[in-house]
Amino acid sequence: MRTITLGASGLSVPAIVVGCMRINKLAKAEAERFVTFALEKGACFFDHADIYGAGDGETRFAQAIGMNPRIREAIQIQSKCGIRPGIGFDFSKAHILSSVEASLKRLKTDYLDVLLLHRPDALMEGEEVAGAFTLLHQSGKVRHFGVSNQKPLQIQLLQKYVTQPLIINQLQLSITNATMISQGLHVNMMEDAAIDRDGSVLDFCRLKDITIQTWSPLQYGVFEGVFIGSPKFPLLNSKIEELARKYQVSPTTIALAWILRHPARMQPVTGTTQVERLEDCLKATDITLSREEWYELYLAAGNSLP
Ligand SMILES: NC(=O)c1ccc[n+]([C@@H]2O[C@H](COP(=O)([O-])OP(=O)(O)OC[C@H]3O[C@@H](n4cnc5c(N)ncnc54)[C@H](OP(=O)(O)O)[C@@H]3O)[C@@H](O)[C@H]2O)c1
Repeated sequence: MRTITLGASGLSVPAIVVGCMRINKLAKAEAERFVTFALEKGACFFDHADIYGAGDGETRFAQAIGMNPRIREAIQIQSKCGIRPGIGFDFSKAHILSSVEASLKRLKTDYLDVLLLHRPDALMEGEEVAGAFTLLHQSGKVRHFGVSNQKPLQIQLLQKYVTQPLIINQLQLSITNATMISQGLHVNMMEDAAIDRDGSVLDFCRLKDITIQTWSPLQYGVFEGVFIGSPKFPLLNSKIEELARKYQVSPTTIALAWILRHPARMQPVTGTTQVERLEDCLKATDITLSREEWYELYLAAGNSLP
């Protein structure tokens, strides 16, 4: 498995993260097969959140991997907090601390490698987050920190308070959800593609050495479906299939390779619960699409150039 350096941390991690948002839907034996396979392939960085399966995702993962000190040393675990279903968002010190304690218990571990704040909280108070992060860091319960779905100014505002570097921003990106890329191509133009929806987060993260992890690498819309094989994207699928034949891989591999080809060294977060599909995703690290192929896929998905 190819590795990347996570943000400015110096931490070497697999180029692809195994997302565990749906792992609770697997029966125990299936979940064991899934995580065992991931480890065999060197995919030892796992993404969780306190809310996945209302906590059952973390519980199922710890059971499936048979968490013990030897295994814990061989893997990296990232979890998230800050979403309170039915209420909104909560970056208060008390909520962050209690969420991490509960995640650690479910994951049967003493520490998280990375903690992300899941979605911006309109009522965020920097001192509260800083208080929580300092306690978590000093106690060894969290080694690194980051955010998810945040704009550059939100990250800078938070960084004004917290002393630990924010090394990750987890954002939605796929060939069909590529506004963070297209707005950088259509600068200062009249068309909708020029609309700056995220404060130029891609350039900002590159500038600040913040690793962008990309969620929903295969979905269009927000969980509307997978574009691979979808009749909604005939041109894209035809191009993907052509490249899949050329590189002798599956269409899924090509879709992930498109994200990996970007020089920002983004880290795709997979969402599949199937071993065969996970293998297809991981194979993307063996392929480097050409510049021409990258742009052809971008255009085939309905994106445009100025
Ligand atoms: N930070 C955030 O706000 C945020 C939001 C959403 C997700 N995430 C993270 O990102 C991860 C990935 O998100 P996602 O699940 O939406 O990603 P995804 O990889 O785009 O979608 C995976 C889903 O598509 C299905 N699928 C259908 N055809 C597939 C194919 N050919 N290859 C792979 N999957 C196929 C999978 O079903 P099968 O399981 O049957 O393969 C699964 O339900 C999550 O696990 C989570 O860790 C973060």
